[in-house]
Amino acid sequence: MTTSPSYYDQIGGAPVVRDVVDRFYTLVLADGDLAPYFTDVNIPQLKRHMVMLLCSVLGGSETYEGRDLGAAHAGLGITAQHYAKVGDILLTLLRDGGVGDEILQHVALTLSTVQSSIVAEPVEAAD
Ligand code: HEM
Repeated sequence: MTTSPSYYDQIGGAPVVRDVVDRFYTLVLADGDLAPYFTDVNIPQLKRHMVMLLCSVLGGSETYEGRDLGAAHAGLGITAQHYAKVGDILLTLLRDGGVGDEILQHVALTLSTVQSSIVAEPVEAAD
């Protein structure tokens, strides 16, 4: 019996994911709307956690050791518009790296599933 390789294996495993995540944060941190969220953040640790998360989403054996996504993004006030921008950056990098439609759809679906834990609608100031 043969089993088809996981998405993780199809795209080239951890080295490819690491490369995508490096490029991802380079673009995010160069974006004037997005960079301010990351002012006080430990970027190497963030990258490490994002690599583990993306690897496991793609079917690799890595275990995600970061915080729950809701807890990690609580209080940051992330808007739906900024969320969409970040998601587009990730999907574009994967597509430009030769990742096929089926895997892109899996990642896009995962992004829409976790959106509600990450996005905070701004709280209206009480008068
Ligand atoms: C698109 C889906 C997203 C995923 C999968 C994701 C994933 C992650 C992960 C894995 C961490 C690390 C948690 C930890 O170290 O415990 C993290 C932290 C963080 N994320 Fe996201 N993120 C996403 C969207 C965003 C967006 C849209 C923003 C802002 C525009 C953002 C800003 C941050 C910041 C500032 C931190 C660091 C928080 C801290 O260390 O206190 N994230 N994210």
